Amino acid sequence: MTTPWKALIESRLRTNIEQIGASATYMSLATVKSDNTPANRTVVFRGFSGQDHREDTGWQSDLLVITTDLRSQKMKDIAHNPMAEVNWYMHSTQEQFRLYGKIRVVGHHNSPTEDLSKRVMPTKRVDPLAVKELATKAFLINSKNDTVSFNWQAERLRQWYRMSDTLRPTFASDCPFDALQIKDVDMSSGWFIAYDNVQQRFLEAGYENFAVLLLDVDKVDHLVLPTGKHSLYYKVDNQWFSKGLN
Ligand SMILES: Cc1cc2nc3c(=O)[nH]c(=O)nc-3n(C[C@H](O)[C@H](O)[C@H](O)COP(=O)(O)O)c2cc1C
Repeated sequence: MTTPWKALIESRLRTNIEQIGASATYMSLATVKSDNTPANRTVVFRGFSGQDHREDTGWQSDLLVITTDLRSQKMKDIAHNPMAEVNWYMHSTQEQFRLYGKIRVVGHHNSPTEDLSKRVMPTKRVDPLAVKELATKAFLINSKNDTVSFNWQAERLRQWYRMSDTLRPTFASDCPFDALQIKDVDMSSGWFIAYDNVQQRFLEAGYENFAVLLLDVDKVDHLVLPTGKHSLYYKVDNQWFSKGLN
């Protein structure tokens, strides 16, 4: 299945990052609370599941990745109602993307069902010894050379490696460190190795609260402010279509 909006977002994001930096990855995620009132917060776009913008992982998808803490309020919202909308304003090109769909969760004890795994496609076999990033190495080791079925826990581990050192402590209760660095990857298990045993314990405690959210998009509303062009991308029977709204 081809996703015409994905190439558009990738190209616009590249331009926006070049012009305004990492803030181009900030977007608003709206959910529905258990009392059926709305909730909205800023989150970071972490890429499309399985993909890395710096090197080839051997996988690609059109599932948007957001990382979060399992203890956060948004997890309760999503458990009550998994439907969500992302509003993404790309400031430098003055474009708004609204992406509507269902959120699937990869947590410490749960992974999405088989149907979603089919949405992350293998592109080629990549050797863990040939990649540069620790995150990709850990992912490939944990994927155990499986090039047919995507491994969600390997993906969650990859995203944990990619988290900044200063964000990781926020996932562990009562963590005394301002930063938790991953020094290396265990080449047989793919597991992260900290600088000492105390940091290792907090890294492992934090990882238990770390979740990957996947937005499985059903509809994309795209508005280009300078021209006023307004378009809708929508899915019928797993096929993507688009139409102008003005
Ligand atoms: C620039 C910016 C980026 C943020 N990125 C994330 C993120 O990627 N994931 C996340 O869970 N919270 C992120 N936050 C914090 C959320 O906006 C929010 O305060 C927090 O997740 C708690 O939200 P909740 O109570 O609705 O779960 C970010 C906040 C800011 C200001």
